[in-house]
Amino acid sequence: MKILIIGATSAIARATARLYADREAELFLIGRNEAGLNELVQDLTVRGAGSVGHLVLDLTHQKKHAGAIEQAIKFLESIDVALICHGSLPDQDACEIDYKTAEQQIAVNGLSVISLLILLAQKLKAQQHGTLAVITSVAGDRGRQPNFVYGAAKSMVSTYLQGLRGKLHPHNVHVIDIRPGLVDSPMTAHLEKGLLWSTPEIVAKKIVTSIERKRHTVYTPGYWRIIMATVCSIPEFVFKRLKF
Ligand SMILES: NC(=O)c1ccc[n+]([C@@H]2O[C@H](COP(=O)([O-])OP(=O)(O)OC[C@H]3O[C@@H](n4cnc5c(N)ncnc54)[C@H](OP(=O)(O)O)[C@@H]3O)[C@@H](O)[C@H]2O)c1
Repeated sequence: MKILIIGATSAIARATARLYADREAELFLIGRNEAGLNELVQDLTVRGAGSVGHLVLDLTHQKKHAGAIEQAIKFLESIDVALICHGSLPDQDACEIDYKTAEQQIAVNGLSVISLLILLAQKLKAQQHGTLAVITSVAGDRGRQPNFVYGAAKSMVSTYLQGLRGKLHPHNVHVIDIRPGLVDSPMTAHLEKGLLWSTPEIVAKKIVTSIERKRHTVYTPGYWRIIMATVCSIPEFVFKRLKF
């Protein structure tokens, strides 16, 4: 299998990459953390990956996306799975009072992903096979007071994926929207953990099996589907008073 992982040094991406390395996949990793990428390349090689290439890139540098995808294809020759993982959990209060901060967060979590999808969709369509898998979030299901800038960016990507799935279906290209709930990773290191929390390893397993089973929208862990259905069913006159 030939796997492209973008935002490869994320905790969820690393755990997913390890599962693919166990299956002797060929991997190309893109991320901005050079030391983290080098360490991951070594780790995956030791674990049995067929071959591992990598590229250091800040993914908000949209003009470099086309070159990055070309480099990945040069290394892998074709792409069976492209998994987009990068993201950033912003300071909601800072985003609400400063447009530039909000714009930067929407660029990382939303626009950079759409730029990559535009390029990858054309490549996978041309090769007439493959899977585009993107990590969004349950935060995109409904705008909540503590994180609606992050949620709005994730929601934009989820909506984009819904339309793209239909466009690519006749071309044998599958599109998956992966929506994790609360995951214990560097992104959430500052938050207090509780019963609903999951691990990058649990989410990674679900990502790999969902790609195999050609799922469409995946909540991980699965109980988040019920939680978010409940959250979405709360009438607006009640919801606007909720601070969670
Ligand atoms: N953790 C959760 O509770 C949770 C819940 C729902 C969805 N998600 C989503 O899951 C995905 C993975 O997150 P995670 O939990 O694994 O957290 P993580 O370990 O903090 O990963 C976030 C990754 O995004 C990368 N990144 C951020 N901005 C970037 C940029 N401009 N260019 C390149 N890379 C950039 C970070 O790179 P550096 O290593 O260089 O900082 C880091 O590797 C994200 O899309 C996140 O939104 C997470």
